[in-house]
Amino acid sequence: MEEPGDTLRYVRLEARWADELAAIELACFPTVDPADLYDAATLRELAEDFPDGSFVVLDGSTPVAMGCGVRVKFDLDDHQHTYEELLPHDGGSGDDPDGEWYYGTDIAVLPSHRRRGIGARLYALRKQVCAELNLRGIIAGGVIPGYADHKHEMSAADYVAKVVAGELYDRTLSFQLESGFEAPGVLENYLRDPAVDNWASFIVWHNPDHIDPARPSVKDPP
Ligand SMILES: CC(C)(COP(=O)(O)OP(=O)(O)OC[C@H]1O[C@@H](n2cnc3c(N)ncnc32)[C@H](O)[C@@H]1OP(=O)(O)O)[C@@H](O)C(=O)NCCC(=O)NCCS
Repeated sequence: MEEPGDTLRYVRLEARWADELAAIELACFPTVDPADLYDAATLRELAEDFPDGSFVVLDGSTPVAMGCGVRVKFDLDDHQHTYEELLPHDGGSGDDPDGEWYYGTDIAVLPSHRRRGIGARLYALRKQVCAELNLRGIIAGGVIPGYADHKHEMSAADYVAKVVAGELYDRTLSFQLESGFEAPGVLENYLRDPAVDNWASFIVWHNPDHIDPARPSVKDPP
């Protein structure tokens, strides 16, 4: 997974990078309570449970970005949830091998490496995982860093609607919309992030190639 003319390599998550990746988390989510971020121990568990769903970007031999996720069962009609409900702090990666959705637990690119297409490539790799495993798509709670400057004048739902309409730019949500996501709602108390009063967006990408195993294929005899 190497781009021609690029020193960056995109590889599957391995436990040996856990400490460096935990440091990337802290650098990329400075206002989020570290208890709500990946620590090295959980990253090691994730590398064990679902290495095919997470990617690390190496610049030379140094990790500079990561895109992680787990498989979950999820009801889109009842989307309110917190990060801790999805990924309990009491251990385990939260991966359910029977889950139909890819839950994007986080994408983090070191500030020194942003705006070079790494984030977009990590989303493309996640979509590839959905195609390979016939998952319904990607869901995630997304941080909305730009809301910090607007939280005194509008609700988080209004802010997300304005970013979706292109009236406001959010460095994370605008990028996710550009990557083919929809933002059908907001999540209350998603992460402990006082800068945005703990609000997050709820984002969804539907895998267009998903085949529902419960529905008979046109090739199946009646
Ligand atoms: C959000 C985040 C993952 C984006 O990562 P990134 O590697 O900078 O993403 P990309 O480079 O693919 O795209 C970012 C922007 O740069 C633009 N871009 C990409 N390559 C570019 C280039 N060569 N020159 C100029 N701009 C470029 C993209 O079009 C995109 O613009 P947009 O915001 O208007 O959509 C990164 O900012 C980050 O880690 N933020 C903190 C953590 C976070 O919010 N994670 C999100 C999960 S909740």
